[in-house]
Amino acid sequence: MIRAAGLCKRYGSQDALRSLDLHVPAGELFVLLGSNGAGKTTAMNLFATLLRPTAGEAFIGGHDVVAEPMAAKAELGYLPDAPALYERLTGSEFLEFVSDLRGIRDRGRVGELLDVFDLQDAARKLIGDYSLGMRKRVALAAAILHRPRALLLDEPTGGLDPRSARVVKDLIPALCSEGVAVLMATHVLEVAEPLADRVGILHEGSLVACGTVDGIMGQTDVASLEDAFLAATAP
Ligand SMILES: Nc1ncnc2c1ncn2[C@@H]1O[C@H](COP(=O)(O)OP(=O)(O)O)[C@@H](O)[C@H]1O
Ligand SMILES: [Mg+2]
Repeated sequence: MIRAAGLCKRYGSQDALRSLDLHVPAGELFVLLGSNGAGKTTAMNLFATLLRPTAGEAFIGGHDVVAEPMAAKAELGYLPDAPALYERLTGSEFLEFVSDLRGIRDRGRVGELLDVFDLQDAARKLIGDYSLGMRKRVALAAAILHRPRALLLDEPTGGLDPRSARVVKDLIPALCSEGVAVLMATHVLEVAEPLADRVGILHEGSLVACGTVDGIMGQTDVASLEDAFLAATAP
């Protein structure tokens, strides 16, 4: 559902992403782990058609993101690290607006998501007055409004209080069980470990380890994902 083949992004003389090969099938949560600057957001933005690859290919639901960006985007939901929202709209106005942009006819969908994300009260306030947790929840609601089959989550729990983080962490397995392919990027190992079907460790633009948490610990012969991460990303 989310696939990359030899995907590269170069900025000047620096390789932000080096020949990424990846496949996230329907129903799987794949977590990209990496330190700051490892290339996680670059990979996300390539899949989301916001960046153009220097080389290689990326596909969403079988659609090449460069050749068929509209078809790829129709299948995709994206929660960016720092989502851009309309500060002068209320939460419900914003979701109605996104709903119209996506051509969604189901008028009950916005209310349903306001319930899921515990945003009923917040829905009447301006987004400019929201806390970070409320902003992320409304952005995530906007990302899944059209029931995408592929979902990109960049640092979805970053800066969230425990209650908001729990809403996000509970939602991911629910979406996977409905068949959504989820690619999540984070540098927080504690978020990844209990949720991920598979993890990939990105280091200086290269995928240096990939597999189940147990598989990766076995490859590096260590007892925790933290030790495996430190071994795989040692300078
Ligand atoms: N627009 C850009 N121009 C030049 N370098 C960039 C740009 N965007 C990202 N980079 C560089 O690419 C590397 C990967 O960045 P990024 O994908 O944001 O990492 P991560 O999300 O893993 O923290 C970093 O070294 C970053 O400085
Ligand atoms: Mg990032």
